[in-house]
Amino acid sequence: MGQGGLLGLACWLLLPLLLLLGGGSGGPGSRGPPPPPPPPRGGREEEQGPVAEGGPWGRTGYEAVKKHLGAAGALSKQYWQYLACRVWQEGCGEEEEEEEESGPSPGWSLPVVGQDYLEILSAWYCSFGKCCKTGDCRIVNNITGLEADLNGQLHGQHLAKEVVIRAVQRFLQNPRPEKALVLSFHGWSGTGKNFVARMVASHLYRDGLKSECVRVFISLFHFPHHKYVDSYKAQLKKQISETVQLCKQSLFIFDEAEKLHFSLLDAIKPFMAHYDNEGQVDYRRSIFLFLSNLGGNTINEVALDFWRAGRAREEISMEFLEQRLRLELQEPEENGYARSHLLEENLIDFFVPFLPLEYHHVKLCARDAFLARGLPYTEAALDEVARMMVFVPTEEKLFSAQGCKSVSQRINYFLP
Ligand SMILES: *[C@@H]1O[C@H](CO)[C@@H](O)[C@H](O)[C@H]1NC(C)=O
Repeated sequence: MGQGGLLGLACWLLLPLLLLLGGGSGGPGSRGPPPPPPPPRGGREEEQGPVAEGGPWGRTGYEAVKKHLGAAGALSKQYWQYLACRVWQEGCGEEEEEEEESGPSPGWSLPVVGQDYLEILSAWYCSFGKCCKTGDCRIVNNITGLEADLNGQLHGQHLAKEVVIRAVQRFLQNPRPEKALVLSFHGWSGTGKNFVARMVASHLYRDGLKSECVRVFISLFHFPHHKYVDSYKAQLKKQISETVQLCKQSLFIFDEAEKLHFSLLDAIKPFMAHYDNEGQVDYRRSIFLFLSNLGGNTINEVALDFWRAGRAREEISMEFLEQRLRLELQEPEENGYARSHLLEENLIDFFVPFLPLEYHHVKLCARDAFLARGLPYTEAALDEVARMMVFVPTEEKLFSAQGCKSVSQRINYFLP
């Protein structure tokens, strides 16, 4: 809704003000990187006082403003630094030294409104591709970090790890993807679907799940009543197109996707499809993640068969699982996937299976939970946490029925 126009306007209004406020405290030139484009009305020279005669204010008015600005000087310095940090990611840790030379400072408490303007300003500035490797500082695309963290913290999911990293990496490296990337995560609860979605968000976006480029939809929370499905449809389409307008590389996460009404899935199909009409908004750089427990039983059967045959779970291959997963997803139960046209139109690029977790995986989750809180742990405590979970099937007691779900709450029992 005119977001772009509003942004531009806000910046033109802001720039002169910002530069005026920043007078004497090291303008853009002193930072090395190219200065922002010149404001419409001269702003930089103001520190030398050219406004004195015939300027917007009379002499006395100017003095009063100058005095006022002097007081705000220390603060404006911080504004400038904040902006430089946001835009060029430099000078981010320099507040303290600066504080000393500028005497008593008003403290590191930018008024909230000011921060918002700076966000807008830096986003606008970045839209010219003048900063940050990705051309947009909200987007970090740290694949190495994603890979390292998945390797260290996602347990027992060799397939999910491999598929997600490969798919995301290839997609981000492609200068002109033909369609949005659509991944469908499948598996029992607690196996790491949410965890991986969160990891993707936090390594692709500076602000992770809180980023304005990321939208999370939870079926029963956002779309609880089937009778309102038409208004949900309109809302969802509007939110997706607004997010993509705001942010070229957007991420949409649909949790509890098995409970999504099929007509909602069909409504968002156009955003995921191959399409060649060069409209104003390009959806082909977006990523869609669907998280569901559909197919969980098939995945578990395969894992159990492998175990019974004495084979390592790492031997389970994508080729082996994918066909069976597709078949189960097409079963016309009360499952939105089967009734929507997502599958038959091949809009899903990758199926990502999450295997059921075994006892030693749950122990690793418990260890991570202790480490995350900076608490010491013993092998015995890890065993005790793992023993609190229910293991199935009844005879083998092989897989944790809740995966690693609520493991981090369970360690509370072991705190001193
Ligand atoms: C990428 O992520 C890793 C792991 O989270 C982190 O240590 C590293 O600093 C990140 N790199 C960048 C450039 O943000």
